[in-house]
Amino acid sequence: MVMKTLTLTAWILTSACLSFGQDSTGTAEWFRSKSLPELCDTFRTDKCADRHNFLEIYEPLFEPMRDDSIRFFEIGILRGLSHLMWVNYFQNGEVYGIDIRDYTAAAAGSGIKTYVADQANRKDLYAFMRASGANFDVILDDGGHAMDHQQISLGCMFQAVKPGGMFIIEDVHTSLPNYYPDTSFHVNAAETNTTLLMLETFIRTGKIYSDYMLDVEAEYLENNIERVELHYRTNERHSIVCIIHKKEAIETE
Ligand SMILES: C[S@@+](CC[C@H](N)C(=O)[O-])C[C@H]1O[C@@H](n2cnc3c(N)ncnc32)[C@H](O)[C@@H]1O
Repeated sequence: MVMKTLTLTAWILTSACLSFGQDSTGTAEWFRSKSLPELCDTFRTDKCADRHNFLEIYEPLFEPMRDDSIRFFEIGILRGLSHLMWVNYFQNGEVYGIDIRDYTAAAAGSGIKTYVADQANRKDLYAFMRASGANFDVILDDGGHAMDHQQISLGCMFQAVKPGGMFIIEDVHTSLPNYYPDTSFHVNAAETNTTLLMLETFIRTGKIYSDYMLDVEAEYLENNIERVELHYRTNERHSIVCIIHKKEAIETE
């Protein structure tokens, strides 16, 4: 039933794009003429202006690389809407996605390269990095948003970001149980394990302290992060996104 719904969603989108093509909307040129926030009118994700409004931050960040043959990887597929948006935004790029659920059939023919992987499982992540070839310009985490998910994915996969590339963590606000009390985000009672605290501590001290990372992963981050940007959105969702820029020259020790 779930798979039928997904296949239907993909079919509706494909059909919509095909019929758009007949009246000059939905063509590659039409998509190219749209800014990222404008593309959200077609691909309604929670990154849009009326939700978390992360696209306003991404637009100036991604515009300079829009026509490059970049490798873009987003964790968390669901209905595939954000991945379809990236496919149509980065028209010369390659778009990858992983999800704990299998969206392979639903994504067939969409141009999205999908894999099944648990973002909190290093074995899965290494298998994905080997299969995809890693070396991404951008990794964007919009997966489960739990503390262990976010920190294991960052620790394990920062090595898969190209020098000068970036790793983005969406929905860092799940570190704030006052606003997001859902226990599935795995914030401990003392709130000492949060991704937000880890990032703020790094900004202040240059050190990574994480309950979920291996020492070698934390050390790699400390040596190879150029800078960390935390963007707090002024909205009723208290939305926070983090952009972690990687150094141009990689330090291995
Ligand atoms: C917020 S949705 C993604 C939405 C999509 N990126 C968009 O903007 O349209 C989150 C997705 O993360 C997936 N997810 C949850 N936990 C995960 C995990 N441990 N590993 C990989 N994917 C996970 C869910 O199955 C779900 O499809």
